[in-house]
Amino acid sequence: MSRERDLVSPDAEGDERAIEAALRPKRLSEFIGQTRVREQLSLVLESALRRGRPPDHVLMSGSPGLGKTTLAMIIATELGVPLRLTSGPALERAGDLAAILSTLTEGEVLLIDEIHRMSRPAEEMLYLAMEDFRVDVVVGKGPGATAIPLEVAPFTLVGATTRAGLLPAPLRDRFGFVAHMDFYDPAELEQVLHRSARLLGVKLPDDAAHEIARRSRGTPRIANRLLRRVRDFAEVRAGGTITKEIASAALNLYEVDAEGLDRLDRAVLEALLVKFGGGPVGLSTLAVAVGEEPETVEVVAEPFLVRQGLLVRTPRGRVATAAAWAHMGLTPPPDALGAASPSPTLFDEP
Ligand SMILES: Nc1ncnc2c1ncn2[C@@H]1O[C@H](COP(=O)(O)OP(=O)(O)OP(=O)(O)O)[C@@H](O)[C@H]1O
Ligand SMILES: [Mg+2]
Repeated sequence: MSRERDLVSPDAEGDERAIEAALRPKRLSEFIGQTRVREQLSLVLESALRRGRPPDHVLMSGSPGLGKTTLAMIIATELGVPLRLTSGPALERAGDLAAILSTLTEGEVLLIDEIHRMSRPAEEMLYLAMEDFRVDVVVGKGPGATAIPLEVAPFTLVGATTRAGLLPAPLRDRFGFVAHMDFYDPAELEQVLHRSARLLGVKLPDDAAHEIARRSRGTPRIANRLLRRVRDFAEVRAGGTITKEIASAALNLYEVDAEGLDRLDRAVLEALLVKFGGGPVGLSTLAVAVGEEPETVEVVAEPFLVRQGLLVRTPRGRVATAAAWAHMGLTPPPDALGAASPSPTLFDEP
């Protein structure tokens, strides 16, 4: 994939993990946004601390880069207990999980990232561990196999997933607290940016923060990444001083537009508008028109375009909204979705 794409990809890549670790808030009070989740979680933690018992298991769901891992680490810090980290794909066999569970210390927080990708046998072992703090380790095969029960120290499981819908109901039901992480609004991202700028030792004026925030797709990880690119640009081209104009010039250079759309997003919109008159057009036809795999268009570009209200998925194909025409500097046809004179077939009351 191109560098441009990486710039607004919500996933962390390569050495970004190390940089992120330095920018992670450590306490709940430093965590910006997600007000509801934060308030609920602080109650859960506070009451657990008062009772002197581990809190309920916590499930965190939300898109990549919204702060799930950060929050899991905060939970352990606030409780004053160690954190053990693993991930669904690493738990291929039940034995992998048993090895971890049997060495947990009392009260420890166990974070399973990408918990929706755990294997079935590990999942079944986890049910029992979550509920009764014990596991059955099966020794041997066939008719001679025996289950040896094993005690597990009371622990708190924190599951993180970008695909809560893929979790089997029995697993989901065993979490006492489910936190849904939403995209951040630009004002919250500005706070994230100001905090990161402080930690990175760069001066960031308010209007420059505003400019970066609105192009960050509601995602702190992307905001932090764009900030670093703007800082680099400012160092090379402007003696290290960041202004709104510098921020905007840097992001234009990296082809991240005023709403956070990158080159692929714009190519998809342009094909949809110019080649197909705004649609409806099928996904594979659209993908051919931009020279990409259908999967890339569907998974990488579309979710953000849909969320921005620029593109709609209908049973007959992809359709551009009036906002998409406007965003690309084109005049929407009168029957465009969401135009001033709305399409009679779609918006009329019955
Ligand atoms: N509320 C927040 N306040 C400040 N910084 C945040 C916040 N949420 C996330 N971040 C920053 O964004 C980066 C990504 O966060 P994190 O790794 O927790 O995301 P994630 O949801 O676990 O992503 P993934 O699904 O890829 O695992 C971190 O470096 C963190 O510093
Ligand atoms: Mg994570």
